Order: sequence, then structure tokens, then C-alpha cells
Amino acid sequence: IKRVTTSALREMKTRGEKISMLTSYDFSTARILDAAGVEVLLVGDSAANVFAGYETTLPITLDHMIYHASAVARASKRAMVLADLPFGEYQGSVEDAYKAAVRMMKESGAHALKLEGGEEIIDNIKKIVNSGIPVCGHLGLTPQSIYKFGDFSVRAKEEAEANRLKADALALQEAGCFMLVLEKIPAALAKEVSDSLDIPTIGIGAGNGCDGQVLVVNDMLGLNKEFKPKFLRLYADLQEEITKAASNYIADVKAGTFPNESEQY
Ligand code: KIV
Ligand code: NA
Repeated sequence: IKRVTTSALREMKTRGEKISMLTSYDFSTARILDAAGVEVLLVGDSAANVFAGYETTLPITLDHMIYHASAVARASKRAMVLADLPFGEYQGSVEDAYKAAVRMMKESGAHALKLEGGEEIIDNIKKIVNSGIPVCGHLGLTPQSIYKFGDFSVRAKEEAEANRLKADALALQEAGCFMLVLEKIPAALAKEVSDSLDIPTIGIGAGNGCDGQVLVVNDMLGLNKEFKPKFLRLYADLQEEITKAASNYIADVKAGTFPNESEQY
């Protein structure tokens, strides 16, 4: 099996073939998603929310992210493993950002890194890219800045913020980013940015004009049903399936029907 590379993703954009990406935080799930054929497994810092139960992505550490990314990297045979650098690890000095990036690459086995932000971190991104590490940008709603925004509402609806986003997108491409995630911005703006760039864009809540899509796997599998933004399509109801399985197991244990003759030694 051939590994999905940065150039393969770029060729998909050129051909007009859409790119599929899902988040992943553990070995068992990643193995299933990889075999299903998803092109990119994103080890998102959304692990802070859906894996660990934090309200924001701010508390997750580089060590936590390395642990998740290494589990996903061990599971993936074909998909690119793209890992988020967590809050606080790359917004300071170029040197600190570079060190965090190198640690993640060496210790997790991820193939590429994602960093939130534009012009304000461009020197840090250039240093990481120039050291040989592929970087994916992330603009629009950037959850690591949630306390600056104040809420999770749609970003870049006003012209000034839209213009800034367009300039940031170009700057990220020029800095050498191989891809760009666009989160929760108007579909028309996401399409305009996607059409203007040579590198692929991956949307979440950014409409159908992007070169690919990403969803948080726990959300699309129905494991996190209190969270229902408009952009989320439910592809399964695992909350219901797991509840059924657990209830049946409990009933069997109470009734003394599990284990049976063939299930014991
Ligand atoms: O952490 C994450 O899951 C993400 C995606 C929503 C793009 O960054
Ligand atoms: Na993230």
C-alpha cells in the first residue's frame, strides 16, 4: 500500500478529486478509518474535548498529543497522519516552536503537523517547514484562540476579517504550507480562498467549495450527541449502539447467562 503524501494531496486538488479527512485519537479507531480509505487521519487537539472531556482545547499538552499521535501512527498503513501542535507550544519564539515540532515528529511518527494561525506565526511556520516538516495551516475559527473570540460563532463574516483571512491564506501558502484547514467561515469565502490557492483546502463548517472535508470522528459517529452544529452530519448512532450492547451485557450478567458453556475453559 502506498502512503498518502503531500504531493498526492496536491495532485488530488489538481484533478478535482475531493480529499477526505477524519480525526483520530486511538489505535483501534485509526486502524478502521485507515482501512476504510480516508486520506488523512488528523490527530486533532479536539482530543481535549471528545477524548478527555475538557471544555476547550487549551489544557492538552504536547506529551498528551504525542501519545495520541503515536497510537494513530502505529495504526495507519496508508493515510497521512497529521498531528496538531497544542496551544502554547508554537506561538512563542521560533526556537520553541521548532523544538516542539521536532519532538512531535521524532516521538510520535506523525507525517505532518497542523498549526493554528496566520501572519502572527509565519516565521515559526517557515522555520518548521524549512527544517523538512510538512505544515498544514488552520484559519477561521481557531479553537485555541477561543477566549479571544469569546464564542464559537462563524468567523470572517465581516469584510475586514475576511480580507485578513485571505491575506493569511496566501501568506501560509507562500511560507510553504502544503494544505490549509478552513473552519466555520462562510461558504462563499471558503470557495474564493480555495480557488485562489494552489494548495488544497480542507473545510469544516466551510461549505462545499473546499478541496476536502474534515469532521471530528466522535461527532460524526454519534458518540457526542449534545454537540449538534448545523455543519455536522451524523453518519452513525454509536451512542445508541453502545447503550444497547452495554444493556444487553448487563442483563446477561445479572441473569447468569454470560458466560455460557462455550465461553469458558
Ligand atoms: O482538532 C481538531 O479536531 C481540528 C479539526 C476540527 C480541524 O483541528
Ligand atoms: Na485542532
